[in-house]
Amino acid sequence: MNEELIIGMLSGTSRDGVDAVLVNFSHGSMDILHASCIPYPAAIKLTLDQLLATGAPPSEQLAKLLDENLGRLFARIAQNLVHEAGMEMGDIRAIGSHGQNVWHQPQGDRPVTIQLGKGTLIARNTSTTVVTDFRSADLRAGGQGAPLAPLFHQRLFHSEKEDRAILNLGGIANLTILPANGGVSGFDCGPGNCLLDAWTQRHLQKDYDDHGHWAAKGQVDPDLLQRMLADPYFKRSSPKSTGLEHFNITWLENMLADTARAEVDVQTTLLELSAQSISISLTEAGLPKRLLVCGGGVHNTFLMRRLAAALPDVVVESTSRYGADPDWVEGSLFAWLARERLNESVQNTPPITGASKPVLLGVIHQP
Ligand SMILES: Nc1ncnc2c1ncn2[C@@H]1O[C@H](COP(=O)(O)OP(=O)(O)O)[C@@H](O)[C@H]1O
Ligand SMILES: [Mg+2]
Repeated sequence: MNEELIIGMLSGTSRDGVDAVLVNFSHGSMDILHASCIPYPAAIKLTLDQLLATGAPPSEQLAKLLDENLGRLFARIAQNLVHEAGMEMGDIRAIGSHGQNVWHQPQGDRPVTIQLGKGTLIARNTSTTVVTDFRSADLRAGGQGAPLAPLFHQRLFHSEKEDRAILNLGGIANLTILPANGGVSGFDCGPGNCLLDAWTQRHLQKDYDDHGHWAAKGQVDPDLLQRMLADPYFKRSSPKSTGLEHFNITWLENMLADTARAEVDVQTTLLELSAQSISISLTEAGLPKRLLVCGGGVHNTFLMRRLAAALPDVVVESTSRYGADPDWVEGSLFAWLARERLNESVQNTPPITGASKPVLLGVIHQP
């Protein structure tokens, strides 16, 4: 086959499952041929949830076990994706696998970022070249190792006619700033869906609040909102990145203190926190003409409505109107990054992550 086919895979902060996207890079284009999001098997989900609840990085033993189990799982998911697309592994140039993020602590004396899903195992089990570990090189160059999406958003969405920003509404929300006259910057602004999901799981025993229907029934608690917005992370200037190490249920419990509040009002306030913190970040960065949104949060109708209300002078739209299915932008990012690594293209991360120099991102594993 004369095509250049690469698979991108990841499991994001939400731990909702493994995204796998088959991208055709032939003829200078970037076409998604097939994509799927495979929920985690219950045992792996439980282990990841328990690990998260400890608020600490995994022990060496657990990290090793998870690395191997996730490696085998990612390999199977890649094989199924190719099979469903009516192709064979031999047709695929490479797999770019971000893995499952389990710990990201870029600050302090010992910056560390851990994504699991063993590359050598994926390569062996699929007989395909695999690229993993996209964040470490940037961390070693003094960068945050995140977000990486702005590099890709620039390729996909830059316009010379208007200032744009791209919002990835995953567990964490990250912004890419794309001025019409060129350049790119980006940073994690704070919680996207992660606190909404955590509160819904606790009180509704559901993975997430479908379309934000529950949140839409409550009232914003202004005191709680202000207390949450006073978190120092929101005041920090970029480069900055964050994760569930910071914005988690314990953080929320501390915010709630001992005051009794209706559960539904907390959900409404958390949703408003996401909308307001994004709006504040964007205002500080300079309001764009258009904000394109991708990631699972685009399906939260009430959140999208509150976001548009918080940004009355900005056109807020899904990336789907600009040729990119919002569910598969992040998966495609890792297919693209794998291709960039194989082509030895150095990435200009310094304006985004604060690294001291441009870096080659990713580690190659031959089958
Ligand atoms: N129909 C929906 N209604 C509300 N929220 C949704 C819906 N579909 C997806 N989401 C949200 O999107 C999240 C997954 O988004 P995703 O982009 O995969 O995040 P991550 O990169 O952190 O895994 C879910 O956890 C949920 O919060
Ligand atoms: Mg996800």
